Amino acid sequence: MNQLMSRQEDAIAFNLLPHFPKSHFLPWTESAMRPSSLLVILNEVTIHNRSVIVECGSGISTLYLSLLCAGTNKKVISIDHDAAWQKIVAGQAESLGISLASTQFIAAPMKPCAHSPFGLEWYDTEVINKEMPDAKIDLLLVDGPLAYHAAIAKARYPALPFFRSRMADDFVVFLDDCNRAGEREIAQLWSKAYALTGQIMQMRGNVCMLHPPQSHRYNVY
Ligand SMILES: C[S@@+](CC[C@H](N)C(=O)[O-])C[C@H]1O[C@@H](n2cnc3c(N)ncnc32)[C@H](O)[C@@H]1O
Repeated sequence: MNQLMSRQEDAIAFNLLPHFPKSHFLPWTESAMRPSSLLVILNEVTIHNRSVIVECGSGISTLYLSLLCAGTNKKVISIDHDAAWQKIVAGQAESLGISLASTQFIAAPMKPCAHSPFGLEWYDTEVINKEMPDAKIDLLLVDGPLAYHAAIAKARYPALPFFRSRMADDFVVFLDDCNRAGEREIAQLWSKAYALTGQIMQMRGNVCMLHPPQSHRYNVY
């Protein structure tokens, strides 16, 4: 029943998402974020005027964020371990008529990571340090690296420890796939370590939204 309802939410969200300038087939797989999660994130960017958006895990989320941010002073920084995948995403942007003028891709291969208490690899932090702009991040979207089986279930943990010192005073973090035990544990660990509050939005594709408790929040759900 919940599955059916969340698919209905996706159908509704899909109609509300902005349309791409050109009509072209977009392969939307199980690896991609759900339309209902993307709607919450685009609501967040718009309502809370987020301007420095970092995402871990390029794909359809990059396309929608780039579409929303094109022609504004907002910036999207999209990190992926797989440069070839990012080329595919950039090719899709071109086919769909999406400007990537506001988007920076960083290809950072998987490397052992000092920020993983679980001994798991994360994106090469030297590459990120070299390529990231100085600006403070006000939206962090964590939908990578791959974490789909037990041995790598907590692969996404380093994102907030690594980026915490670069976050703006007021910020929001989205962690996708919180239907999975690994991501739910990461959300709990981050909430505790960085005194964040928030919720898992089960009817919005199981994306978790965390923010400092003192943030003045409008509804983005
Ligand atoms: C959960 S996906 C990220 C998806 C992205 N945020 C989106 O909304 O499409 C995590 C990683 O899987 C890889 N990936 C994405 N789509 C894929 C596909 N169709 N097949 C295999 N790997 C994929 C990419 O390297 C990506 O960073």
